[in-house]
Amino acid sequence: MSQLFSPIRIRGLEFKNRIFVSPMCQYSARDSQPTDWHLVHYGSRAVGGAACLIMEATAVSPEGRISPDDLGLWSDDFIPAFKRITDFIKTQNVVPGIQLAHAGRKASVSAPWKGDGPLKKEEGAWPVIAPSAIPFDRNFPVPREMSPEDIEFVKRKFIEAAIRGVKAGFELIEIHQAHGFLVHQFLSPLSNKRIDSYGGSLENRCRLALEITKGIRENIPDNLPLLVRVSSTDWVENGWDIEQSVFLAHKLKEVGVDLIDCSSGGNVPNAKIPAGPGYQLPFSERIKKEVKILTGGVGFITSPEQAETVIRSGQADIVLLGREFLRHPYWPLEAAKKLRAEIKWPEQYLRAKN
Ligand SMILES: Cc1cc2nc3c(=O)[nH]c(=O)nc-3n(C[C@H](O)[C@H](O)[C@H](O)COP(=O)(O)O)c2cc1C
Repeated sequence: MSQLFSPIRIRGLEFKNRIFVSPMCQYSARDSQPTDWHLVHYGSRAVGGAACLIMEATAVSPEGRISPDDLGLWSDDFIPAFKRITDFIKTQNVVPGIQLAHAGRKASVSAPWKGDGPLKKEEGAWPVIAPSAIPFDRNFPVPREMSPEDIEFVKRKFIEAAIRGVKAGFELIEIHQAHGFLVHQFLSPLSNKRIDSYGGSLENRCRLALEITKGIRENIPDNLPLLVRVSSTDWVENGWDIEQSVFLAHKLKEVGVDLIDCSSGGNVPNAKIPAGPGYQLPFSERIKKEVKILTGGVGFITSPEQAETVIRSGQADIVLLGREFLRHPYWPLEAAKKLRAEIKWPEQYLRAKN
């Protein structure tokens, strides 16, 4: 019996299998709202049989966008455009999730195929904020060190976006605390040199992450799963690391997080990352065992057998696939065949099943 295709309950929701579509920026928003591209892109992956689809990093406020082409969720006016997509995803018995994010000092860059670097003034660059006035890289803008008011503002924006997300039909929320974006910038001693209660000790560096998480948990329905994506390590000495991630995961569990999605890296440009199949799984395995919380494994998972092994061996409770889903939107339908799992196909495609 395939474990990959066994259902899992997270809080009040049953997921039909352990396969999640990893959040992936599409840089295709119009006025920060989803377009037909998003409907077709997410719609196809919903048809493809994943249990849950986590929509891309969606900015909680305009200055928190990575690029001008990012999705945002800071206005009620945006709700209908998101709802059109969540409505369709649900028709496929797939859980629609959304990743809420603020890019901090990594904001104000162009989409990968439009230059992939910091925007110039004439391209519409905007001022960026961060825990400390340390740019991400040499050619990046120097961020403004956030005031206590800025911190309160960002917290409020995360909570409001989560509430709005629920109104837009999302049934799962993931908070982006990874990849060198704002919350990660607070967590890591490499980017956080503050001397107030949000910097210095590990407890202080975790404060914003925990306050945002607690605030969201208290303002969304009790049965709605709350996930956090962490960068388990900066892959740099004296940076954020797995021990600190274990500490954070304990605290996140206390404030009501259901699952830790274990990614890594992104906070410094020159980290030496041993990327390859399974390279992040020791993190999801360790957090799962030490913190006794559900975890997600991600990174270079491409074959059904590999994904099955991740679940069967207890390295993680779910797998998140990114690029493989860009190549193969119907990956789960094919994987079920290989693993001899019986799953429901869309009726429209039944004649292609066997
Ligand atoms: C085009 C693209 C966009 C991405 N955007 C996001 C994002 O919005 N949020 C996020 O947490 N990770 C993002 N990622 C990282 C993926 O979610 C995933 O963690 C990473 O690609 C590793 O998994 P994979 O080897 O299965 O692709 C992105 C990756 C790709 C390829």
